Amino acid sequence: MRRFERRIRSFVVLAVTSALVGLGAAAGWEAVRAQSHTHTHSGGGMDMGGWLVRLAPDARTAAIERQLRGLDTTMAEVAYRYTEMYWGGVDGNWAYAEHMAQHLGEALNLGLERRPQYRKNAEALFLKGPYPQVMDAIKAKNVTLFKQRIDALRPACTACHAAEAHPFIKIGVPTVRRNPVVND
Ligand code: HEC
Repeated sequence: MRRFERRIRSFVVLAVTSALVGLGAAAGWEAVRAQSHTHTHSGGGMDMGGWLVRLAPDARTAAIERQLRGLDTTMAEVAYRYTEMYWGGVDGNWAYAEHMAQHLGEALNLGLERRPQYRKNAEALFLKGPYPQVMDAIKAKNVTLFKQRIDALRPACTACHAAEAHPFIKIGVPTVRRNPVVND
């Protein structure tokens, strides 16, 4: 092959390659646009054609109740808020401790609305004794009293578990923080 021909040939190869790369990039961009297009239409997470709407109307309320679940999800939140309430008090971050204590009570009460069979023990063992007493210690901003009241609250959690057929869930003093909250 002559030198001139070789040069022409490599020029053609280069031109074809860059045209293909360009096409590929454009196709890729179209694909991205098409995807975001679909996203906008599906309502940004609110799926108008979703599972709930596909159920018969008279089956929907029961389905929502199922998805809200029972005391197990309530307790996962209660344990989270108990832990963070504890660290709030230990840190002297009393507003944070109070925030957690309030939402702990709210979560428990909402759970009892869904599962009223637990109300009797929840009130007798927890809501009418140890819980408001921890709240008082938080409002008094007294760390010694707070720790004493936590030591009275823990056995109340554990006693309710024992009374409600879950004696293996024994509540201790928290050892690890759940949130990266500081009191600078
Ligand atoms: C009604 C009395 C009652 C009180 C008061 C109570 N619990 Fe519970 N707790 C339960 C019951 C019942 C379960 C099991 C729920 C289930 O599996 O359906 C449970 C389960 C749990 C679980 C396991 C949750 C999971 O992931 O399945 C944790 C953790 C827990 N409780 C923590 C606490 C803490 C901390 C307190 C006190 C601040 C507390 N509980 C107070 C009744 C109670």
